[in-house]
Amino acid sequence: MKPIPPFPHSVTRPAVVKLGSLTLRSRYTLAPLAGYTNLAFRLAVRSVGAPGLATTDLVNARALLVRSRRTLELIQTCPEDRPVAVQIYGNVAEEMRDAAQWLESYGVQAIDINMGCPVHKVTRGGGGSAMLCDRGSTVSLVRTIVEAVKIPVTVKMRLGWDASQLTAPKFAREFEQVGVAGITIHGRTREQGFGGTVDLDGIRAVVEAVERIPVLGNGDVRCLADAERMLRQTGCAGIAIGRGALLNPWFFGQLQRWEATGDPGPPATQHERLDFMDRHFRMLVQYLSEPFACITFRKVANWYCRVLKPGREIQQQLMLIDSLAHFSSLVEQIREVIADRGEDEFPVVDSGIRIPSGPIEHW
Ligand SMILES: Cc1cc2nc3c(=O)[nH]c(=O)nc-3n(C[C@H](O)[C@H](O)[C@H](O)COP(=O)(O)O)c2cc1C
Repeated sequence: MKPIPPFPHSVTRPAVVKLGSLTLRSRYTLAPLAGYTNLAFRLAVRSVGAPGLATTDLVNARALLVRSRRTLELIQTCPEDRPVAVQIYGNVAEEMRDAAQWLESYGVQAIDINMGCPVHKVTRGGGGSAMLCDRGSTVSLVRTIVEAVKIPVTVKMRLGWDASQLTAPKFAREFEQVGVAGITIHGRTREQGFGGTVDLDGIRAVVEAVERIPVLGNGDVRCLADAERMLRQTGCAGIAIGRGALLNPWFFGQLQRWEATGDPGPPATQHERLDFMDRHFRMLVQYLSEPFACITFRKVANWYCRVLKPGREIQQQLMLIDSLAHFSSLVEQIREVIADRGEDEFPVVDSGIRIPSGPIEHW
């Protein structure tokens, strides 16, 4: 077993993270992962360890204003899904403002503005990470939103457009001045996409640029050692975790125990992982239709299989799942495979999440 790194209390007090009027129960939050962090997944994660906050997939402000069915599905929430932030993108201030006001009346606890998405579909309209290229209009847009709602408004951004324009610290300072309640900073530039390594010094520069608001560090935190490094080297108030939560939904609870007691507790067993997959699928059925739940689940079947290793045949069937009954019978088969095999050490594997590849100009 790897040694457990000590929690760096010395550099991270106070532990309470406040986004304006919203006090988080934990400094570890679930970062948005479009296509994955839907209501079903958020509820399943909350059932095994509470993140301080969970954020929806990014949604287009204009689509929200015309109540596009797909967009309303993306912002689906319920009383057990608290606190939740909805992440919006766009670059028309009035649309972003109206979307934020509508979301406030819809009952969400916070609005997050996307300034990190590197994908062409989002940046070509001036949204996502393209907002990091025009300080004047971006800060003015953010101010418009902050002034229009009472709930906290946060920003999730990257370090800048590319290595020659590391604009995040300047933005962060100005966002704080116009009333933004917190910032999540993914330690990569837009040009880096998801490649290379996270620049902890870049995150630190953002932490140092603001006076009071919390900055959540983000990127590549998958185990306690990563979390320890992020907290210690950047001085961030908390950590937003994306792919690490898909790989290990228990991570939030383990991080909290580690922080409180120095011991993260035991890793989840294979049976617990199987139960988690079962719960996730049933939540998908509950909140989407059964056929749509099956289609959605196929996308994530392979990351469950990376850990559960049910054998090729079951894996193939899981990836073609077509009903709840079919799913339930596969779960029972996997249960037998695990019982016969016995518990493994938790394997360290890649989350298997598909990220855009090839030259970033083509994303
Ligand atoms: C498949 C995928 C979808 C993502 N969707 C969003 C999104 O909707 N909004 C956003 O701000 N970031 C999004 N991100 C970025 C993540 O929130 C996060 O910043 C990034 O993955 C680095 O953190 P991690 O290593 O903990 O995953 C996405 C990342 C991936 C891989």
